[in-house]
Amino acid sequence: MRLTVIGTGYLGAVHAACMAEIGHDVLGVDVDAAKIADLSAGRPPFYEPGFEDLLARSLASGRLRFTTDLREAAAHGEVHFICVGTPQQAGSQAADLRYVDAVVDGLAPHLSAPCLVVGKSTVPVGTTVRLTSRIARLAPPGVRAEVAWNPEFLREGFAVDDTLRPDRIVTGVTSTEADETLRRVYAPMLAADTPYIRTDPNTAELVKVAANSFLATKISFINAMAEVCDAAEADVVTLADALGHDTRIGRQFLNAGLGFGGGCLPKDIRAFAARAQELGAGPAVAFLDQVDEINQRQRSRTVLLARRMLGGDLTDARVTVLGATFKPNSDDVRDSPALAVAAELHRQGAQVRVHDPEGAAKASLAHPELWCGEDLLTACQGAELVLHLTEWSHYREVDPDKLARVVRTPRLIDGRNALPHDEWRAAGWTVKALGRPA
Ligand code: UGA
Repeated sequence: MRLTVIGTGYLGAVHAACMAEIGHDVLGVDVDAAKIADLSAGRPPFYEPGFEDLLARSLASGRLRFTTDLREAAAHGEVHFICVGTPQQAGSQAADLRYVDAVVDGLAPHLSAPCLVVGKSTVPVGTTVRLTSRIARLAPPGVRAEVAWNPEFLREGFAVDDTLRPDRIVTGVTSTEADETLRRVYAPMLAADTPYIRTDPNTAELVKVAANSFLATKISFINAMAEVCDAAEADVVTLADALGHDTRIGRQFLNAGLGFGGGCLPKDIRAFAARAQELGAGPAVAFLDQVDEINQRQRSRTVLLARRMLGGDLTDARVTVLGATFKPNSDDVRDSPALAVAAELHRQGAQVRVHDPEGAAKASLAHPELWCGEDLLTACQGAELVLHLTEWSHYREVDPDKLARVVRTPRLIDGRNALPHDEWRAAGWTVKALGRPA
């Protein structure tokens, strides 16, 4: 099938390459000419395990091309996937839909044959209905373009695998033709037992924000328990393990620590609360404000713990932060909890060095005031406190004996509860973590 994928960020670029991989003829589209040049040359604009090889294969197959021209896209696609960002609006909690709207506005006038426009971006409920009338207004007379929503559930760091082997497909469609078209798109990659949920567009849009809200709530729940554990001198990791054995609860997303960040969970729960408010259902999701608040509090609790460990004053203290990205196996630093803590430590007077195996360049751009680098020993040289804030596997492989010889004082905050504390203590480190007894 001839597909276009409009918006080639993390979601779109991976979707486009995966669709080519399963045999479709794909045109990726973006307004950013530099990004299109990189992708066309096989250079991924971001770090994502497995993506570079996939991109190279798809380009070599001749089934994947890129352009900045929406006119070309309109001529190419039987199905147009919208994968542009829906960031938080400046000065508001709501989602900014200007990029989604711009795709529709740019595409519709050039359509010359019936097609299906499929949104994959995370949007406020009601967007499909709104875009349906927008497209009908802008498309040439007699050209029918149907809109459907098909949310994406991929995780950064596992994007390729999550796209090619999804744990479910959800489509919100209003006609049998649209349903059949989407089933044909996905047929080559679906296992016989992959759940395929066809529903209406409103429900499909809601599934996505409900899923991310649930995940965010689970993380904030365990971080709230960590706060109680700190007050009661109990251990949140053992608590999470014990809870997780209940299959109704499950152990995943109960890792207590610095909390969630990234380009999705924080802005999605805010946009959901704002949209619910507009619909008159604000009280139903008022708890999401608390989820957000608990999450933000883990950042300030971490800064406070650092202050306490350094005797109450951060002025000129030499501090090293391990990890800059919002999660491991990604170079994405959007709303990174680790960088937020690093920036606050710097603001309070500390001399901060940030290490990250893949995200140092993007971290430097976002926070020019911070030293960011990829050499661990240089980053830790002379440190009076090391904070482990993004759980890259590299850090679990560090020899705490060797690192103790490089730092000035072997003091560690494990902000992700992911390092072997006993080994670090045996090597002479003072180790502290949120929700763990001293
Ligand atoms: C999230 C969802 O997991 C995806 O299903 C969804 O498709 C995606 O958002 C999206 O909307 O595009 P992602 O943002 O890649 O995916 O990352 P997660 O793995 O969900 O992690 C989010 C944050 O939560 C990270 O900062 C991570 O460190 C933190 N986290 C995760 C915890 O603090 N504790 C946990 O137990 C799990």
